[in-house]
Amino acid sequence: MDLTKLTMGRRTVHNYHTEKVNDTLVEAALGLSLWAPNHRLTFPWAYFWTGDKTRAQLAELNIRLKEAKGPQSEIKKNAARANITNPSHLILMATVLSDPATAHEDYATLACSVQIASLFLWQHQIGTKWSTGGHSTHADSYEILGISSKEYRLQGALMIGVPSIVPPAPPRPPLDKFLRKLT
Ligand SMILES: Cc1cc2nc3c(=O)[nH]c(=O)nc-3n(C[C@H](O)[C@H](O)[C@H](O)COP(=O)(O)O)c2cc1C
Repeated sequence: MDLTKLTMGRRTVHNYHTEKVNDTLVEAALGLSLWAPNHRLTFPWAYFWTGDKTRAQLAELNIRLKEAKGPQSEIKKNAARANITNPSHLILMATVLSDPATAHEDYATLACSVQIASLFLWQHQIGTKWSTGGHSTHADSYEILGISSKEYRLQGALMIGVPSIVPPAPPRPPLDKFLRKLT
């Protein structure tokens, strides 16, 4: 697929079939993501591939976070759980802590990496969503993952799965809104 079509055609996917994506394909996407530009070659990534037990804990955390905002019906609780358990793969993503200037650049590297992985998977008809929803960066998530906030900063979750619904493309404003050509 050509890059224009791939870039414009990729969508953030919110709804997934329960069908499993091949682990090898997901590993290939994450491996390719390491080819993102990375100033000073700091290699800032930490990808946490969640298994059933971790997922269940994150799902319960997600429900608790929703309940903290107000009472949740069983339907809403099930939806909050499914949000974590439904995608084929759920990768929590962190960057290694650093000084502010390096951390800023490291986050940029991660963002490039996520796009590379997402475009690669999209090419294989697999959807992704970078979520910064509460559970993906919460203090309790560090505990669930067994990592320290003195070493890592959680930057969100990458959901991966076979799309059950591909949302319409949110239109982008034209380039002239953002581009200033100077003399
Ligand atoms: C850093 C980052 C965090 C995001 N967090 C969320 C999120 O928590 N929930 C969500 O629905 N989408 C999230 N998104 C996806 C954007 O909402 C999405 O990219 C945007 O709506 C454009 O849709 P598209 O990716 O299909 O073009 C996030 C995207 C980025 C880059």
